[in-house]
Amino acid sequence: MQSRMDQRLSRWKAGRALPACGHAGDPLRSVPGRQLCYWYVNRELPMKVNFAGPPFRATLEALAPPLDPTTLRVANPELLPIARAVWAERVRTEFRSIQVMTRFLQEVVSAGDPMDVYPSAAQAVMDEIRHAAFTTQIVRLLGAELPDLPEPLPETLTTEFLALPMVQRALITAISVAINETISVALIADLHGRCDNPPIHTVLAATIADEAGHGDLGWSYVGSSLQRFNEESRKFWKAVTKTTLDPHLQTAERILAQIPESERSLEHWPEPQLANLGLMSAEREALVFERTWKTVLAPRLHELGLI
Ligand SMILES: [Fe+2]
Ligand SMILES: [Fe+2]
Repeated sequence: MQSRMDQRLSRWKAGRALPACGHAGDPLRSVPGRQLCYWYVNRELPMKVNFAGPPFRATLEALAPPLDPTTLRVANPELLPIARAVWAERVRTEFRSIQVMTRFLQEVVSAGDPMDVYPSAAQAVMDEIRHAAFTTQIVRLLGAELPDLPEPLPETLTTEFLALPMVQRALITAISVAINETISVALIADLHGRCDNPPIHTVLAATIADEAGHGDLGWSYVGSSLQRFNEESRKFWKAVTKTTLDPHLQTAERILAQIPESERSLEHWPEPQLANLGLMSAEREALVFERTWKTVLAPRLHELGLI
């Protein structure tokens, strides 16, 4: 008679995946779905609880230390409403990045990628939590209220995407990470070099190093993973790249078209008061994007055969 381990081994040899965890007697699996739902909707149980105590708050503060509000130097108070809105939007985009990086970690692990990849992907999740925490602090420092989480944005994924094999999903995610993080690094670096406001400068400095690492992670992963796919698939990867790039290119093109030829350089858009609050005009953003597109994005994507 086969031992339990032998049975598992023969199932595995037959190409059937071993359960990652749990077994027939797994207590969670034996709970009927209806009962689980009942637990979640039972109004006797508190749905909103305070997680501010240890160890949660301490761990978060170790990741994103509290900023000193007395160091805030606002050059132009009239810009504060814009700054609050922009930084509140950054909380949402950083929150989205937590979701994307968490998904990417799940995708590379589920794809069975080598363990070398996991620490960078896991680190990226922690980095994005740090960015969300820092941007939240800036919004509060600027005197604005924040909507309660999880109002920011549940991530909705198409059924087509969810049906793809994990190796494919991971590469799609990595392409968008490589492109989006490269653009983020360029924009944050541009602000960081001109911002004279201590707490905002601190957050930009902390963010820029992390985002550069995420860009490297994305590019390295794309370069390696593409080798697993045949030439036929190149059309698909080019389409994925185009989907990610198009909104950036179209926005930049529309804004650049409105800038007179004589003003199409960064020197014409110094914007010290905006930079003081970590902001920039749409024109400056388009010019920074254009430079990044020409000097970094287009050459790298071309080299990888993605454009
Ligand atoms: Fe981030
Ligand atoms: Fe990032």
